[in-house]
Amino acid sequence: MGLDRIQTIADLRRLAKRRVPRMAFDFLDGGAGEGLAVCENAAALARVKLQPRNLSDASVRTRSVELFGLRRSGPIGIAPVGFANVIWPHTDTILARTAHEAGVPYVLSTAASTSIEDIVKVAPDAWFQLYVSDSDEIALDMLRRAGEAGIKVVALTIDVPVPGRRYRDMRNGFSLPLKPSLATILDFALRPAWILETLRRGTPTFANYVPYMNENANAGTLAAFMASQVSPNLSPERIARLRDAWPGTFLVKGILSTRDALDAERLGADGLIVSNHGGRQLEAAPAAIDCLPEVVRAINGRIPVMMDSGIRTGADIVKAYCLGADYVFAGRPFVFGSAAAGEAGARRALDILNAEVDQTLGQIGASSMADLDESHVRPR
Ligand code: FNR
Repeated sequence: MGLDRIQTIADLRRLAKRRVPRMAFDFLDGGAGEGLAVCENAAALARVKLQPRNLSDASVRTRSVELFGLRRSGPIGIAPVGFANVIWPHTDTILARTAHEAGVPYVLSTAASTSIEDIVKVAPDAWFQLYVSDSDEIALDMLRRAGEAGIKVVALTIDVPVPGRRYRDMRNGFSLPLKPSLATILDFALRPAWILETLRRGTPTFANYVPYMNENANAGTLAAFMASQVSPNLSPERIARLRDAWPGTFLVKGILSTRDALDAERLGADGLIVSNHGGRQLEAAPAAIDCLPEVVRAINGRIPVMMDSGIRTGADIVKAYCLGADYVFAGRPFVFGSAAAGEAGARRALDILNAEVDQTLGQIGASSMADLDESHVRPR
């Protein structure tokens, strides 16, 4: 299947699956535990039904969205994906450039394989996602580096108090250093393009952490170090300290309740991202789309409420805006694109979603994202 035959994000996923070793594909595709929360995101989005209003004039339509005082060319941005370069080499750079050229946000993960300093060379308007460990030291230094690199928006992720357990990864021996079974080694041998590209580009690292590692760090110690870089202590005092250390726009990502939403707002967040981390952390988590309306009601327009988790089609994006999202992100769809066909694949993912949004707007009689509200969804 070539890129010209790709019509949907599901097609890109199928192509990616063929090109990427199973261990890396499962890391991208899988979720917490056996994957219940991934299924829940998809099922909850499918349950939302759009209510057409065809007695309207939707002949001129725009997909642009204003967010933090800037007009973004499209309604969907690229969520932070840690260790994406293991799925396809240079994915961080590919996604950052794709978003920058398209005029939509790209969020660099703390756990990316490209440093803050390098990503801004490709995408000067990139956002940065922050994890915090038990001590503030590294997080505060990363905020300093992000500021010096010219980053304007930071998203603190709060939904990884402890690392998720993903059984697909555990069964594949996906850890660093890799512990592949014979079957896994054979599977790698069937993916020559991935192997050649990975050899050419070098083994991905956790580039943002390199300044804090000692010089002899190898993949194994880096991975152990990474696992220690999340913390179950996200007390209000810590959040307030981090907020105060950042002069720019400060977002909190991983909100699933009105309580966390109101706390984050009180502690100074300039925006929230309703997310269950694409179903990768808490297996019993509710779908992000189901939590969105109550958070939107509680925040009542005071700060932007964004959303990710499970978005695979333009109709999904439209549903999220109808239910009150001020902006929407996706993670896996763009990495499927990059793994399927590099930069052209990532661009294709964005083009597919944008074309589907435009078509869905027309089909429900709306001319812009700002037009969308709860009257466009069937009451639930
Ligand atoms: C993620 N996500 C994530 N989020 C974050 O805040 N920091 C991170 O380092 C990562 N890493 C990461 C790796 C991989 C492989 C995936 C798929 C996801 C979560 C991500 O930002 C986003 O919340 C989800 O990907 C959204 O769900 P969909 O669009 O993938 O369904």
